[in-house]
Amino acid sequence: MKQQSEKIAILTSYDASFTSRIEQAGADVILVGDSLGGVIHGHADTLSVTMDDMLYHMRHVVTARQDILLIGDMPYHSYQNINQALENAKRFIDVGADMVKLEGAGRGANSISESIEHIIENGIPVCGHLGLLPQSVEELGGYKVQGREQAAKEQMINDAKHLESIGVDMIVLECIPSDLGKAISEAIAIPTIGIGAGVDCDGQVLVLYDLLGITPGKLPRFVRNFLTAATAADDNLIVSAIKTFVTDVKQSKFPTAEHSY
Ligand code: KIV
Repeated sequence: MKQQSEKIAILTSYDASFTSRIEQAGADVILVGDSLGGVIHGHADTLSVTMDDMLYHMRHVVTARQDILLIGDMPYHSYQNINQALENAKRFIDVGADMVKLEGAGRGANSISESIEHIIENGIPVCGHLGLLPQSVEELGGYKVQGREQAAKEQMINDAKHLESIGVDMIVLECIPSDLGKAISEAIAIPTIGIGAGVDCDGQVLVLYDLLGITPGKLPRFVRNFLTAATAADDNLIVSAIKTFVTDVKQSKFPTAEHSY
């Protein structure tokens, strides 16, 4: 899709009903994200989400999925060394995921990079995640825009190139300045999927509950409620809202400057 300049529209899902509706509305990929720690479990962060939680939700998504690609998000502390990382990645694939996502690109012994390489060498496709890494929220000192300084920008471009070089298939870029999202997307051949990373990424992802405006509390700038403008022309308002997200991503109408940094 990147080679053909077709934008990729991704949403999170955690259950069977929404999975059917997301697929019906024409999204390209579903991410069973550890964001479920917030939107399903009601926690302030994703740190308490376990492998068992992730597999429970993945199973229900798999039940409803027809053809759509499914990514399983590896939760906090599920990839602390290469053996644990591979074992847990295999558990996702065993329940029906097509790809796993890991946060970060740290290198060295027992690093995330080593774990990613080990998973890929064993035939499991990997999606990377750079920028704001919610599982490192404590080290980052909160949910803040990443990559504003020149050195951090260069580091992130190098990290993206590194992930591509070890065989990662796609990279989520979260909460970074739009110019950096554009620079990374131009620097690598694999697709970038933005969430608060500007319109020049090769695709966009949103948390479904944010898109539907049902997540409580203050939401990040990159979120847009697509349900408010939904019409019942489709068989229901939720499908209509998701279709608008998909169309707006495909036509580069979302995100706008209002949703970017
Ligand atoms: O957990 C999640 O839903 C994610 C997306 C926000 C990219 O990682």
